[in-house]
This record gives sequence, structure tokens and C-alpha cells, in this order.
Amino acid sequence: MSAARRTSFAAASLAMGTALVLGCECTPPPGPTDGGSGRDSRVPDAWELVPVHDPLSMPEEATLTPSDFQRSERCTMCHADHVSEWQSSMHAYAMVDPVFQALVSVRQADFMGTQDQFCVQCHSAIGTRGGEITAGFSFTGLSPITLEGVTCVSCHQVTELARDHNSGHVLDATASMRGPITDPVASGRHESASSELFGTSEFCAGCHDIVEVSGLSLERPYEEWLSSPARAAGRNCQSCHMPEITREVAPSAPERTSHEHRFRGVDLPLLDGFATPEQMDVLRADRAALLTSSADVRLQVPDSVRAGGTLDLVIDVESLLDAHSLPTGSTFIRQLWLEVVVRDAHDRVVYETGTLDGNGDLRDHWSALDPYGDPDLVSFSSSLTNAAGQPELFPWRSTEHFRRTLEPLHTRTVTLFVPVPSSMDGPLSVRARLRFRSHPPFLLRALGLTELVPRVEIQDIDEASASVEVVP
Ligand code: HEC
Ligand code: HEC
Ligand code: HEC
Ligand code: HEC
Ligand code: HEC
Repeated sequence: MSAARRTSFAAASLAMGTALVLGCECTPPPGPTDGGSGRDSRVPDAWELVPVHDPLSMPEEATLTPSDFQRSERCTMCHADHVSEWQSSMHAYAMVDPVFQALVSVRQADFMGTQDQFCVQCHSAIGTRGGEITAGFSFTGLSPITLEGVTCVSCHQVTELARDHNSGHVLDATASMRGPITDPVASGRHESASSELFGTSEFCAGCHDIVEVSGLSLERPYEEWLSSPARAAGRNCQSCHMPEITREVAPSAPERTSHEHRFRGVDLPLLDGFATPEQMDVLRADRAALLTSSADVRLQVPDSVRAGGTLDLVIDVESLLDAHSLPTGSTFIRQLWLEVVVRDAHDRVVYETGTLDGNGDLRDHWSALDPYGDPDLVSFSSSLTNAAGQPELFPWRSTEHFRRTLEPLHTRTVTLFVPVPSSMDGPLSVRARLRFRSHPPFLLRALGLTELVPRVEIQDIDEASASVEVVP
């Protein structure tokens, strides 16, 4: 699947007479010590600075006019529920997202503008195809419809899907509003048309599966779903992320099956003022519901352990999610990990893994205070490495993407060996927790977004605990 995709993406780009930066013999991109945000003098020489285009999603000349598309405020009068639900969703956040904006600036500097359309092609297809995303563009100069990100009409005026990744939707501002309703009542405002595409996972795939310019597969929930039990059972992305509700879709329209537009997910907006406190509570509840239903943690311990011996902890992490991996999507940004803490009878910590350093970071390669201080760390996130084989923050500076995500309904069993000193007072208490957060602090700091670090909330997915006697 991914090999075929690479070919089609390359062919599309090459058809436009552009060179892809495939298999470049790059000098090692900067390591973590450059802090990631500043432009490293080695970078411009490292890649060929050839403009990257694609006839559909990253055109050289504008293929549509952004002002021909209607903003979400034009829908409020009749679809007030859809608008208010969408407003606090990540789709509405896609272009104002400070993490997105900061990453884009680093890429702009790295490629000196030659790949400036790449990141924006899905976050705002209308702006990218509309000629607003040009070399060296700035987020402050963009039109309101572009800043609305994945807005109503970027989905509802899709007439066709040209490919199942990298902004594969065909958009038409003159098209009728398309959706799942086969017998829409007249609206007086727009023509309606039913389209089967809206009830398919392919529709989401057009943006949710991402292949880098280099061919590296970055995000692939749809590809994972293709071979999942959920697909076999006929459940698509919408069934979990846009659950059905019965309501009037517009005033004076009949009650019918409608679809919630909060696009339930696991990411919470970090931008102040994007969502009201009430909306934040709803988003937190959505996220907790999705995450806590997605995995179980089980702990097996012996009844007792000999002082001076070793305590063997066997921990099963079982995915209960049958649709895609856990986590999925931007798995190189998300953190999902196992925390295990063992305490003695005096509540002193005698063993820990998956705990945080003073900066709030996991104690792995990226910890500034205790790098590699946690050799037992069990992480389910993915990691990127560059041509020098070193861990890398930025996907476009990477050559490998190692996934440790849990496949649908799979169990990963972890065994930890905890030394028990001969002087220790039992019983020992053991606690294992599976934890998730959207962004690691080191990444926010590297992007100059340190003020956002305290806003990142950890969600516990499941935990298990046990007690073990210590015998002489
Ligand atoms: C093929 C469409 C597509 C392209 C191209 C794309 N994105 Fe995204 N991006 C998405 C989707 C879909 C998600 C949601 C995935 C998730 O939340 O796990 C996302 C999520 C993100 C997030 C996480 C949001 C957050 O703040 O937590 C960031 C950051 C981001 N993208 C940055 C980028 C950058 C930088 C680029 C260019 C290198 C890029 N994206 C290119 C579709 C795309
Ligand atoms: C003046 C009222 C009005 C306005 C304004 C309006 N709509 Fe509608 N829309 C309707 C009615 C009525 C229906 C049919 C509902 C039904 O039959 O249940 C509808 C149906 C739809 C459908 C479903 C089409 C189908 O066949 O599945 C979509 C999608 C849609 N509208 C999107 C939008 C968007 C996006 C906007 C803003 C750009 C918008 N509408 C503005 C009244 C309106
Ligand atoms: C059976 C219900 C179900 C179906 C079907 C489903 N998902 Fe999910 N999805 C979840 C749950 C639960 C989570 C939270 C756990 C996780 O992150 O994997 C989630 C998380 C996500 C995330 C956020 C991941 C992150 O950590 O940023 C994205 C993006 C996503 N799903 C996209 C999709 C797409 C695209 C499809 C269809 C191809 C799909 N989902 C189908 C249940 C589902
Ligand atoms: C990311 C794509 C996307 C965005 C953005 C989006 N929608 Fe939808 N919308 C859908 C899909 C998909 C369905 C049908 C779901 C299904 O059939 O399972 C739908 C259904 C609808 C319907 C038909 C009734 C219903 O609830 O099923 C209306 C009306 C509608 N959307 C209006 C809007 C409005 C107004 C906005 C902006 C505030 C909006 N949508 C934003 C994807 C989107
Ligand atoms: C036009 C492109 C586009 C389409 C089509 C699209 N998405 Fe998204 N989606 C995005 C982007 C971009 C983001 C991330 C925005 C950000 O956080 O910066 C996102 C984020 C999400 C999230 C939040 C993920 C998280 O980490 O919490 C969910 C859930 C989601 N989309 C579900 C869907 C579903 C379901 C569909 C199909 C009905 C769909 N999307 C179609 C572009 C799209």
C-alpha cells in the first residue's frame, strides 16, 4: 500500500516537472543540541532547494479563488448546532494552531520557501490552492476563510476523491452542498446533493494519511483501518468520531439521523481563547471517553519476593480499539507510555520508570535533565531518526519512522525486573499506569512555545496495582 502510494505521489509531482528530494545524500541534519527552532547553517546545503508542487493540492498557479467559498458564519442561521460543534474542533484549529505555525516556520527556513505549500495543503486546502500559500508566506497575511482551516466547505464542496492521502479532495466552490442526506428539503440558500463519499473512511483518508515529500509515511490511520476488524465489521471513521444523533439539521427540516461535528479526538487546543471553559470540559470528556475505552493494563506479580532478590513484574497492555493503532495520527508528536512505580512499606520509591524529569519530560534521549536516565521506558509513540541515525524532531529532516504503536486489539507484554535490596521493608506496593499526552514539553520548548507547556494535560488510560510481601 505505501509503496504504491509513494509512486503515485512521486508521479503526480514529477508530472509537474518538479524534482522530489528522494534518496538525497544529506549531510547529517542538526542534532537535538541546536534546540530545533533555530536554522542550522548546515541545513540549506543538505537538501536540494527545488520547488515542490502537485497539480491538485500544491499548484504553482492558483486553481481556485478563496473568496468564492463561504465561511462557516454563513451556515449558522440554519445549521447552528453543526457550526458550534465544529468551532471547538481540531478542524477549526488547524490553521491557528500555534504548534502547527511554529513547525511550519522551521520548515520554511529549512527549505527556504521551496516547500511552503506542503504542510498547508490539508490544514487549509482552500488557501493553498487559492494562491495564498506562496514561498515565504506569513500566517498573519491570510484571508479569513484560509484561517478557518478545515472549514465546512472544505468538506462539503468536495466533488471527488483523487487519492487517499495528501489532500486528495477535488474542491469546487460552485458545487452544491454535498452530504449524506438523500432527500434534502429545499434550503433557499444552496442546492443540496447527496454523495456516498461522506459516509466512507476514504473521505477522511484524503487528509488523514500523510506521506512526506521524501516518501516517508508519517500518518496512516486509514491504512491501519483498511486491515482492521472494524472495517470488516463495516464501521468507518465517522461511526466513532462523528456519532449519529437524531435532530433537525435545519429549521423546518424534518428530524433525521444527523452526525455530531465535534470530531471527537484526543488533542486539546493549547491556544488561549480558542474554546470556552464549557467547550473545554466537553473536549476533555470526549478525549477521556475515547482514551479510557481504548486499552487495559494488567499486572501480574508473585505473592512474595525474597529480600535481596528480584521482583519480576509482568504487565500486559491490551488495545481494546479495533479500528486503528493506539495511538494513531501524529504518533511522532503524541506520547503514550507506561509508568510503573514500586514503593516500600514507608512509601519510599524503590523503582520507577515512565516518571517525568523536572521539566516534565520523559527521561529518554530528549530529556535535558536526565537523558537516557530511564532505560526501562516503555513507549508506544513513534520516533524519527535522521540520516546519521540520530533521534530527530522534524519529519522532513528524518529518514526513518520507527513505530511502536499498538496494533488493533493487540497485547504487548512487558517484563520488568526490579532489584529488591536485602534491607527493604515490605510489603511493596506496585502501580502501573498507561498515560497519554498530546505534546511533549521538550518539543514545545524547542519551538519557542514554553508558555504552552503547563497547558498540556496528561490523560490516564488505565491503571493496575498490587502488593507484594517481602520475605527474608
Ligand atoms: C495529508 C494532510 C496533511 C499534511 C500534508 C500535513 N498535515 Fe498536519 N495534520 C493533518 C491531520 C489529519 C492531523 C490530525 C492527526 C492527529 O491529530 O493525530 C494533523 C495534525 C497535525 C499536528 C498536531 C496538532 C497539534 O497541535 O497537536 C501538527 C502540529 C501538524 N499536523 C503539523 C503539520 C506540519 C508541520 C506539516 C508539514 C510537515 C503537516 N502538519 C502536514 C493533516 C496534514
Ligand atoms: C437558509 C438556511 C440554510 C443555510 C444558510 C445553509 N443551509 Fe445547508 N441546508 C439547509 C437545509 C434546509 C438543508 C436540508 C436539511 C434536511 O433536509 O434535513 C440543508 C442541507 C445541507 C447539507 C446536507 C446536504 C445533503 O444532501 O446531505 C449540507 C452539507 C449543508 N446543508 C451545508 C451547508 C453549509 C456548509 C452552509 C454554509 C456555507 C449551509 N449549509 C447553509 C439550509 C441551509
Ligand atoms: C471503533 C472506533 C473508531 C474508529 C472506527 C476510528 N477511530 Fe480514530 N480513534 C478512536 C479512539 C478510541 C481513539 C483514541 C485512541 C488513539 O489515539 O488511538 C482514536 C484516535 C484517533 C485520532 C487521534 C490520534 C492522536 O493520538 O492524535 C485520529 C487522527 C483518528 N482517530 C482518526 C481516525 C480515522 C481517520 C479513522 C478511519 C480511518 C478512525 N479514526 C476510525 C476510535 C476510532
Ligand atoms: C472534516 C470534514 C467536515 C467538516 C469540516 C464539516 N463537515 Fe459536515 N459532514 C461531514 C461528514 C463526513 C458528514 C456525514 C457523516 C456521515 O454520513 O457519516 C457531514 C454531515 C453534515 C450535514 C448533514 C446532516 C448530518 O449531520 O449528517 C450537514 C448539514 C453538515 N454536515 C454541515 C456542516 C457545517 C455547517 C459545517 C461547518 C460548521 C460542517 N458540516 C463541517 C464532514 C464535515
Ligand atoms: C480537508 C482535510 C481533512 C479532512 C477531509 C478530514 N480531516 Fe480530520 N483533521 C484534519 C487536520 C488538518 C487535523 C488537525 C488539525 C490540528 O490540530 O492542527 C484534523 C484533526 C482531526 C481530529 C482530531 C485528532 C486529535 O488528535 O484529536 C479528528 C478526530 C478528525 N480530524 C477526524 C476526521 C474524520 C472522522 C474525518 C472524515 C469524516 C476527517 N477528520 C476528515 C484534516 C482533515
